Formats: sequence, structure tokens, C-alpha cells
Amino acid sequence: MEFARALLRWQRTHGRSDLPWQGTRDPYRVWLSEIMLQQTRVATVLSYYPRFLDRFPDVETLAAAPIESVLQSWAGLGYYARARLAHACAKTVAAEYGGAFPRPAAELARLPGIGRSTAAAIAAFCFDERAAILDANVRRVLARRYAIDGDPAQRAVADALWAVAESLLPGRRDMPRYTQAIMDLGAGICTARKPRCDLCPVQDGCRAYRMGRVEDFPARRKAAPRPVRSAHFLVALRGPHVLVEQRAADGIWGGLLSLPEHPEVRALRRHARSLGAAAPPTPLAPRRHAFTHFTLAFTPHLVRLDPEPRRAPADGALRWLALGEIEGAALPAPVLALLRAVRDDAADAGSGLAGTR
Ligand code: ADE
Repeated sequence: MEFARALLRWQRTHGRSDLPWQGTRDPYRVWLSEIMLQQTRVATVLSYYPRFLDRFPDVETLAAAPIESVLQSWAGLGYYARARLAHACAKTVAAEYGGAFPRPAAELARLPGIGRSTAAAIAAFCFDERAAILDANVRRVLARRYAIDGDPAQRAVADALWAVAESLLPGRRDMPRYTQAIMDLGAGICTARKPRCDLCPVQDGCRAYRMGRVEDFPARRKAAPRPVRSAHFLVALRGPHVLVEQRAADGIWGGLLSLPEHPEVRALRRHARSLGAAAPPTPLAPRRHAFTHFTLAFTPHLVRLDPEPRRAPADGALRWLALGEIEGAALPAPVLALLRAVRDDAADAGSGLAGTR
């Protein structure tokens, strides 16, 4: 109980209390925040969460929305499979639970996209349930405090961590604050690098600290080198429009808009010629984007086409998107970043400033 009491006391004065998903016990709002936070930093989620809620204020609205509009609001958060699972989850809650997220945590964990830890967070925040969370931050806190060695991806190690996590829980009414406290400790004090043990409210009794080996826990998995996949993106401009392609539902960025992608430059040049390009596209600086299992190294190739005639592309997946509309379009973050640069360059060129800076 000492551990929980110390954390609760610390959270009151030092923990976070102004995040937009705090101060509500509405399971839909809490669920949405936890799903967004699964693989995305708080700072990024802060800018998406309110907009998403404006558009989909409750679970029924989300369940009834077409997946395209959900992906559009999710664009930029990454990990689009999460958006599909969130949509599937909303549909299940609406259809099978009358729009009310079920309890207890074990029942929540049966829904699409909700794992054991996310289910526990929702149940603790909304229902005061004594359910333990164990996300990456909490794994680190507990592995250090109890000097639990070994790779948490291994079953036996994970079981030990879950057992400890459950043994530390306070009484029901303290569950929301305790759950936030242990998240806050992992995010702000017991950090992966340069932990602030001097500020830690549970330094007493931390075995890794006593041994002077805080950064040895949790054991790091030997990271396999991430393979690199290369691709070429065609940036075809026709006046103020850029050619975009809706990607297939499976594979990376499934269902989102992107730039026409070619594995080789020759095919990309053929594509540009078929659009009426007079000269071959110009390669721009290569860019990289890290996915979970590989890195995509892509080279954009820019070509400017005659503004007329503006025919609709023959391929139904292709269309012309106004550069002025890229902010609201369902573009993955790295493609949006590239198109912002193209748009801003085009604006500079248009104002006659190009080359003067
Ligand atoms: N990460 C996951 N859940 C969180 C929450 N509720 N608050 C802050 N960071 C989080």
C-alpha cells in the first residue's frame, strides 16, 4: 500500500491534471484518448483529439460514419489500422451493447483494438475498477522498482510484471488517480533515458536505484535492424492541383490518399509522360519514414504539367487535389509534410520571390 499511497500523494501536486481526456468519466472520450495514445505521443494527440470529438461526438456518430471520413480525421496520427479497429469497436459497442461501453475490463478487452492494458485504463478511469495497466511506461517503472530482469516480450517476464502491477493497486475510489499517477511517473520521472530519481516519490524501495543500475531495467531486446524499402513518388502539378491516388485498403496507409508510387524511376517517368509531361520529372531530396517493421525511403519527383487540358485521370483511384485543400485531406503525415513544402515553394515561385532569398 505504501507504493500506491506515495504515488497518490505525489500525483495531487506533481501529476498531470489538465489533459483534455481528464475530468471526464465518459467511456467514449476516455476510450478514444487511450486508443490515440497507444502509439502516439501526448503532444501529437492533443491536436487531433478535440477535432475528432467535434466530428464524432459520441459512439453512435462514429459507428454510423463511413470509414473514409474516420480515416480522414485520423490522417496524421499514423498507425491507420488503429483507426479501422476503433471504427469496428464503435460499431460493436453501438450494435451489441446499446451504445454503452461494457464492463468489467475483461469484457472491454474483447472489443476490437482494446488490449488488456487499455481495457484496464478505461475501467479504472471510468468505473473505478481495480484493474492494472501495463503499458511501456509502467513496465519500465515496475521492472526497475522490483529489478525484474529479462525481456518483457517474454511470457514469463510479462507474467511477473502483471502480477506485481496487480499487487500494488489501491482501493476502488483511488483507482483513477493511481492509474494516472503511474502513467505520469513513467512519462515524466522514470523515463527511459536520464530518469529523474532525485524527484521520484517512490525512490525508497526501488531495487534498481539501490543497486545503482536504474538504466539496466527493463532489459532491452536486441533490436533487429529495420529493413529499408525504397519507393519513388510522383509529384505531378497541374496549375494549383497535385495528382493523388487513393491507396488500396490493405498495405501501408490503406485507404488514405497518397502520391502515385512507383518502385522504379523508369515506371514513374512513363507515368509522367502519359500525363503529357514535356520533360522528365526532377528528383527532390529523398525522405524517410519509419514504420514499425521497416523504414520507407522515398524520393519525390516533381513535374509541372500544362494547366490545360484538365481531364479527370483515367484511373479511378487517381484524382487532382487542390494544394489549398491538402490540410483537410486524408493524407499520411509524411506525404502531407512533403506537399506542404511543395505548396509553399509553389507560392514563393508564384509571388516572384523564388531565387531571391
Ligand atoms: N498515455 C496513455 N494513456 C494516457 C493518459 N490517460 N494520459 C497521459 N498519457 C497517457
